[in-house]
Amino acid sequence: MRESKTIITSDFTAELTQLLNKWQDNKIFILTDDHAEKFCLPTVLECANARNSQIITIEHGDSHKTIESAIKIWSFLSEHGANRKSLMINLGGGMITDIGGFTASTFKRGMSYINIPTTLLGAVDAATGGKTGINFLGLKNEIGVFSPADTVLVNVDFFRTLDARNFRSGYAEMVKHALIDSPVAWNKVLSFDFENVDFDNLKKLLADNIAIKQRIVEEDPTEQGIRKALNLGHTFGHAFETLSHKTEKPLLHGYAVAYGLVCELYLSYMKLGFPKDDLLKYRYFVLENYGSFSCDCTDYDAVLELMMHDKKNDNNEINFTLLSGAGEIRINQTATREEIFECLDILFN
Ligand code: GLY
Repeated sequence: MRESKTIITSDFTAELTQLLNKWQDNKIFILTDDHAEKFCLPTVLECANARNSQIITIEHGDSHKTIESAIKIWSFLSEHGANRKSLMINLGGGMITDIGGFTASTFKRGMSYINIPTTLLGAVDAATGGKTGINFLGLKNEIGVFSPADTVLVNVDFFRTLDARNFRSGYAEMVKHALIDSPVAWNKVLSFDFENVDFDNLKKLLADNIAIKQRIVEEDPTEQGIRKALNLGHTFGHAFETLSHKTEKPLLHGYAVAYGLVCELYLSYMKLGFPKDDLLKYRYFVLENYGSFSCDCTDYDAVLELMMHDKKNDNNEINFTLLSGAGEIRINQTATREEIFECLDILFN
């Protein structure tokens, strides 16, 4: 896969200006959603090189990550003379970087794109690593390609306007990265003060954290092996998220991952001797910052059923990434129905 660079900006306008110099003789398109258009596009347009860009706006939310939105984007590119030397700037959360990366990578067999994530979740997860795609026939990310952004430009100032829940949602993916990296990284993320966010500290943590993901992606760009480590917390987490969306209290992605991690660290403790003290420390961190799992997902069979249909599974067995300690990754693990239910008991009791 092509190399991708991530810049955690100190002077966003200057760094964007420098980056766009490369495309000054070519057409630039900015794909955004109605939220990012309002809150973040004005900052991007402070950069003189971006001012003549063509803007494509789609509605926010994962329900718009569809083939219809992709057709709208491809049509716009076609009607406005985009070619292989054009650039797409994806300005938004994970939905925009996913569909923008996909449409740019497939238009005329591929034009370059850069990602400017406007949410913490997008910066930590979707914007890096080259996974692009759209939902199709009710299945998430069913159609897509691995194709990395030319550059990911992270402006921490965009995260100042996130509400507390969206901030915590993104932070859960940072905890996951730290857990798969090392005890040092993990202890650092656990001591974060959510009540008084220090954005300078966040910037440093984010730089280290995105680098963890990048190291793994470079080693295994198409998820044949070690990239599965990034699925930690997501086997239970995705099932909780899907079930919660059928209720009055849909979970934000990161909250589902935070609760999924409680179950998967407990499974790690049971099966691989993950240290009990670390498990309890994490359980306390979740209770303090994410609260108890209040969504009505206590139907264990429904959770199990969803986990059985996870597209990460092989040979009809639920596939987990577990840990024998922070930084000690064990991919391709399985568990029995009884073990899975015991994990749910830990979460719900
Ligand atoms: N979101 C996990 C990955 O990029 O592999």
